[in-house]
Amino acid sequence: MLTTPLDRLPQLQEAALAELAKANSPADLEWWRAKYLGTKTVEGEVKKMMGWIKDVPGPEKKNFGAAAQAASKIINDAYEAKKAGAGAASTKPTGPLLDITEPAVAPRLGREHVITQTVRDLTDIFARMGFVVEEGPEVEDERHNFDALNIPRTHPARDPNDNFYITEPFKDSPLLLRSQTSTVQIRAMEKIVKTSPANPRLRIVSPGRVYRPDEHDATHYSMFHQIEGLVVDKKVTMSDLKTTLLQFAQAYWGPETEVKLVPSYFPFTEPSAELYVTAVVNGETRWMEVGGCGMVDPAVFEAVGIDPEQWTGFAFGLGVERLAMKKYGIQDIRWLFENDVRFLRQF
Ligand code: DAH
Repeated sequence: MLTTPLDRLPQLQEAALAELAKANSPADLEWWRAKYLGTKTVEGEVKKMMGWIKDVPGPEKKNFGAAAQAASKIINDAYEAKKAGAGAASTKPTGPLLDITEPAVAPRLGREHVITQTVRDLTDIFARMGFVVEEGPEVEDERHNFDALNIPRTHPARDPNDNFYITEPFKDSPLLLRSQTSTVQIRAMEKIVKTSPANPRLRIVSPGRVYRPDEHDATHYSMFHQIEGLVVDKKVTMSDLKTTLLQFAQAYWGPETEVKLVPSYFPFTEPSAELYVTAVVNGETRWMEVGGCGMVDPAVFEAVGIDPEQWTGFAFGLGVERLAMKKYGIQDIRWLFENDVRFLRQF
């Protein structure tokens, strides 16, 4: 049975409102608007509905017109109300802006680099043993890096291929990046001889960067750190040296740690030794070489103007990365300097 235009008005109104209720995104709403309220490119359903009047018999036209106007108003009003609500929803949140009861996300803090921490741990231990920290420059001259340390011009350690010279080697007084912290022994002794020639007693440690053009691999890097020690006093003996290193090793590695000195050679100490300590690695105790040491060579005292007949001393130089790597089980020295925070955050 055919329906009259008047009968179809409520159907259209119902369909329009039902679809409007489902239009929940701005795109859906616009699509709905074009379909029902469109007037331009595509004639909307409401405009078409107004056109049905031509099929309405004369006497009923007035009735139909009033009903169609009413339906159009309901549909338009519903659209305006929905649009106002949607606009409000997209710009104004309805709930509180900030939930002040929600637990905060802890900000991620930076931290000291593991080598900085290690240097502090080491200097703390030596400070308890009466050593004060003395620092020296990283750009050095040949006197402090070699000559005064009794390293002659012909010594292989001075080879330009094994050092970072920053001016021409062997000419005038060349500069280089220091290859060892033993330079600070010389600087500290020169200073004390100036300020207190009659009493050049010293008890210093010097942590710092050193540079060598080594190819990078798991155990070599062209920049690394050493901690140097120097004691100058009367009647200093090799057993003082060994006791100092044993106490240090036990403080750093734990009370079970032992040390052994293996005879070696350094131009600035006589006798010289390599220091080995026991370290527990993966549950296994092993000997590990951590640096050099010895009794200050008389030639070094003479180079700085300290009388070797009156004064004695010992010195040592330890590799900081080596200590840290073994202490924390770090397998590759390069990890220390790649600045990957996922690695560095662990310490
Ligand atoms: N300077 C040496 C090096 O870099 C280490 C060293 C050995 C330092 C013996 C010392 C020492 O003070 O007495 O290989």
